Amino acid sequence: MILVVGGAGYIGSHLVKELVETEEVIVLDNLSTGHREAVDQRAVFVKGDLGDKEDLDMIFSSYPIKAVMHFAAYSLVGESVVEPAKYYQNNVAATLTLLQTMMKYKVKNFIFSSTAATYGIPDVEIIDETTVTSPINPYGRSKLMIEQILADFRNAYGLNYVVLRYFNAAGAHGSGEIGESHNPETHLIPIVLQQLLGTREKIAVFGSDYDTHDGTCIRDYIHVTDLANAHIRALEALLTGKKSAEVYNLGNGLGYSVKEVIETCEKVTGLKANVEMADRRAGDPARLVASSEKIFGELGWKAERNLEQIIATAWEWHQNQKF
Ligand code: UFG
Repeated sequence: MILVVGGAGYIGSHLVKELVETEEVIVLDNLSTGHREAVDQRAVFVKGDLGDKEDLDMIFSSYPIKAVMHFAAYSLVGESVVEPAKYYQNNVAATLTLLQTMMKYKVKNFIFSSTAATYGIPDVEIIDETTVTSPINPYGRSKLMIEQILADFRNAYGLNYVVLRYFNAAGAHGSGEIGESHNPETHLIPIVLQQLLGTREKIAVFGSDYDTHDGTCIRDYIHVTDLANAHIRALEALLTGKKSAEVYNLGNGLGYSVKEVIETCEKVTGLKANVEMADRRAGDPARLVASSEKIFGELGWKAERNLEQIIATAWEWHQNQKF
């Protein structure tokens, strides 16, 4: 059985939907940002907290867990600057409790959701896993701290792990049953689509004077189902002993500016967006684009869905949003 912590969240719920096809799955989620309806009915669901030793003891003593996948984190850069304690408490301290409990029950396989935010403001066009990590906000630091803890747990306790550094997750499940639903929403693609649906008056473009071809920030958008599939590959590699301590970037390898994303949303929907230029948002690097060559070379994974497909699935979801 696989324990998916944070399996009711946006990315976790998409992973669970793929994983239940081949594995027995138990989800632990406190529903602070996740949605109970997002969890596939084939998975066992436990409402509880990853920092709560009693919840964890109950799960590890009741179910034969062979690996843990950990998606349960706060992930808003701006919020992390204002409320660092919240980020270090949940993303670091509670995760450490989870890891210690895994060691207590001799569960040695772990997949960790990390982030492009660990790189800070990189001085290269395309970021690979050898690019220096130098996060510029508490969110990025909280993720990098766990990456460092994992390496120490490997050396001391024989923990096997794969770290996956996501770039910009977007899109929705092809079934239309689950998709992105944050409250408040801060991410670009859902905000643009909500404006096109008329539930938002306008879209503010945060900064048009960046050193990029059109002055707006460039990001590498990756479909959430592609992300989910990368986790399945990583899990197979851990369970077959092929990998024991690796870090992989997950992106498309293509950068799109904020303006290009808005234009693609207009193209996919056939609607015209109401856009205004605004000030830069604190903590936004100008450009974050991944090389995912390493995971392609080692595990055969690559992103299969392009920006139009990402937006088309998100559009399906937002038009008929279930939660
Ligand atoms: N943007 C706007 N207007 C909006 C919302 C976003 O112009 O209303 C811009 C942002 O400034 C940024 C781009 O659109 O340039 C993408 O912003 P998102 O908020 O969608 O995504 P981020 O790149 O800020 O954040 C994502 C993840 C984080 C992760 C980060 C790594 O959501 O968890 O990538 O840098 F930390």
